[in-house]
Amino acid sequence: MYPVARELPEDIQLRLSRLAAQMGVGEDDLLLSFVSDALEETEAIRLPRKQTDHRSLFPDDEPTHDAPMNSAETSLPFSFIDLFSGVGGLRLGLEAVGGRCVFSCEKDKYAQKTYQHWFGENPAGDVMELTQSGSVPDHDLLAAGFPCQPFSIAGVSKKNSLGRAHGFKDRTQGTLFFHLADIIDRKQPPTLLLENVKNLKSHDKGQTWATIQGTLQELGYCVFDKIIDAADYVPQHRERIFIVGFRKDVFGENPAFSFPATPDGPRPKLQQILESNVDPKYTLSDKLWNYLQDYAEKHRKRGNGFGCSVAKLNGTTRTLSARYHKDGSEILIPQRPGQNPRRLTPREAGRLMGFPEEYLSAEKTIVSDTQAYRQFGNAVVPTVITAVARQIVSVMREAVVSKSTNGCILKSKKQRRVKPELVTQELAKRKPR
Ligand SMILES: C[S@@+](CC[C@H](N)C(=O)[O-])C[C@H]1O[C@@H](n2cnc3c(N)ncnc32)[C@H](O)[C@@H]1O
Repeated sequence: MYPVARELPEDIQLRLSRLAAQMGVGEDDLLLSFVSDALEETEAIRLPRKQTDHRSLFPDDEPTHDAPMNSAETSLPFSFIDLFSGVGGLRLGLEAVGGRCVFSCEKDKYAQKTYQHWFGENPAGDVMELTQSGSVPDHDLLAAGFPCQPFSIAGVSKKNSLGRAHGFKDRTQGTLFFHLADIIDRKQPPTLLLENVKNLKSHDKGQTWATIQGTLQELGYCVFDKIIDAADYVPQHRERIFIVGFRKDVFGENPAFSFPATPDGPRPKLQQILESNVDPKYTLSDKLWNYLQDYAEKHRKRGNGFGCSVAKLNGTTRTLSARYHKDGSEILIPQRPGQNPRRLTPREAGRLMGFPEEYLSAEKTIVSDTQAYRQFGNAVVPTVITAVARQIVSVMREAVVSKSTNGCILKSKKQRRVKPELVTQELAKRKPR
């Protein structure tokens, strides 16, 4: 034992011995780890934070809220930014696994209003303006459901551009994706979670996807992608592509990531999310219902499909779109025989997107029905995000235990030869910093 340990009061010595035995580490190692912890914490308070440390998985910023902590294996107090935030579908999904949002950005004023009301935070405006301002704080994960803008790669093939010194900067500027890439380049977050429409991969004969994937790889990320149908989580057929990136200099060349397996059990059914007493204003007028049926019939004769669909109560609906407010034709709810079908109520639209009930009450709804449908139709299903984020967290855990970066508490634990599983348990007990 270190001589100083022998100077400690007897009861402290005893507790130290007991704890060291329980943890399976030497008393000296444990003592050293306590002193080292205390020094690190004191230094963090007294010394200014290093400006260059962009990759800590546990930045010293004050949390904006107490992130919920779930089970040890599936949550971690990491920080994230929420770009193209909409009304926070990604945010809710990430908070459920311990994430704490340190920055958000959304340009639509109604979505901003809802986001402010729900999360107490007014998102920054246009992403295009962030690039110059440098106002984005450091973060562990960058989340973005970026709009898929058509963009040309201006004759620069992926192969050619990847070999060039300035790579993605040479390609067509002015698109949202390149603004996103610029933020990634400047901030170098350890992990990325991006979401987009399913046909991103086939768009422009695969050129768009090749550019996006190539750019992320060029920026230093190992890229994974998968199309996931939200129908396994909510009663809605909604296929979206999810793109996950891990920085190679933090996680190595082959991070052990896989997308979540399909959940067990039957898929959720539409009838589970319907309200019982619905205002008659949501029932289609005879005029609109006749128009929709005639229109559908005309298209059927021409051999075209048309998105007028009365949903099956024990099944899955079509995809809720941002234009649902126009006529509700893609998801109509059947009613009593002889009665015209109705639209979803905004609350049902929120449920169909998997938003928690506490965000769907009358007090939480401060925009018109039109805006509410648009906001949910544009959103990401939080429960799908949570499933993907759990998988990301499990990679983050492995990396921080076995390959930590500057400023990460797990690094010092590992150096002190404490067993990784004990570190994991201890970390799970801690509040996010
Ligand atoms: C697909 S939605 C994102 C959904 C959201 N991420 C979620 O988790 O529910 C895309 C959002 O990007 C916003 N947007 C489009 N262009 C933008 C820009 N230049 N700057 C900031 N937000 C923008 C749109 O208003 C829209 O709300």
